[in-house]
Amino acid sequence: MRYIFVLILLMISLTGCYYDHANLVYPQPSCVLTNITYSTSVTGILKANCYSCHSGAAAAGGGIALDSYNGVKTYVTNGQLMNSINHTGGIPAMPLSGAQLSACEISSIQAWINNGTPNN
Ligand code: HEC
Repeated sequence: MRYIFVLILLMISLTGCYYDHANLVYPQPSCVLTNITYSTSVTGILKANCYSCHSGAAAAGGGIALDSYNGVKTYVTNGQLMNSINHTGGIPAMPLSGAQLSACEISSIQAWINNGTPNN
């Protein structure tokens, strides 16, 4: 009887560890880079991380508006969008005083650019 109790305890603790480390045992949901659109994927990332300073009403972004396709396209073309979020090129790192975007978010924007920055 005591062995069964110990066995159950052991099973519970092992399962506990197993689930604690589930993110190490299984890879994270992969970053899906197909069907990236401006209207959903790119805008979604910019809205959550950049609009607070870079949308029409906000004056906190040095006059740089990223809430329209043409606005974003301008900074894609001059290379500053990717440099700012990759923290490269010696320009101010964005989001200003915030955490860097996730690798998947950066890859998503890069994939959209690689597709030719469609207004889709
Ligand atoms: C807290 C406010 C704030 C947030 C959030 C923010 N920015 Fe900025 N951003 C600024 C300010 C202020 C400047 C002007 C900085 C300067 O020129 O010194 C700037 C400048 C830029 C520039 C021009 C860089 C240059 O060459 O001067 C780009 C591109 C840019 N931001 C992109 C982004 C992107 C993309 C995000 C979101 C991932 C973002 N920013 C989030 C405040 C912000």
